[in-house]
Amino acid sequence: MATERTLSILKPDATRRNLTGKINAKFEEAGLRIIAQKRLQLSVAQAEAFYGVHRERGFFRDLVTFMVSGPVVAQVLEGEGAVARNREIMGATNPANAAPGTIRQEFAESIEANSVHGSDSAENAATEIAFFFSGIEIVG
Ligand code: CMP
Repeated sequence: MATERTLSILKPDATRRNLTGKINAKFEEAGLRIIAQKRLQLSVAQAEAFYGVHRERGFFRDLVTFMVSGPVVAQVLEGEGAVARNREIMGATNPANAAPGTIRQEFAESIEANSVHGSDSAENAATEIAFFFSGIEIVG
């Protein structure tokens, strides 16, 4: 499988509970490398733009409100099949359905406050990485 890059976000519930190190240990133990990272306070406009594909969903307004409720950590993960690997390590979107040992099963509070975001395809990963990082900020 090819080396890939994917966009990861540690969400406000994770930064609020001081879980960034524990969560990133899961990625690193699984062989993914953090090759770019920044902590940010998203604006409403930025959160709306990032989650624009969900604009018509019933949960969109609450999702945006949650994502601006505290700092996030945006990061680029690199490794073999990183898009799918990251999604395995995160577990299902709803922590009630997340497999044992996954980040969301261990740490998520709810389907909304689910601790982490990860790109769902290589194509979206490229778009999402470019949303947060310029080339000079990514050091593989
Ligand atoms: P994420 O992978 O960041 O992508 C969109 C987010 O919307 C998702 O994780 C969830 O945190 C959030 N969300 C809130 N409610 C729902 C829902 N009913 N179905 C899917 N995602 C939801």
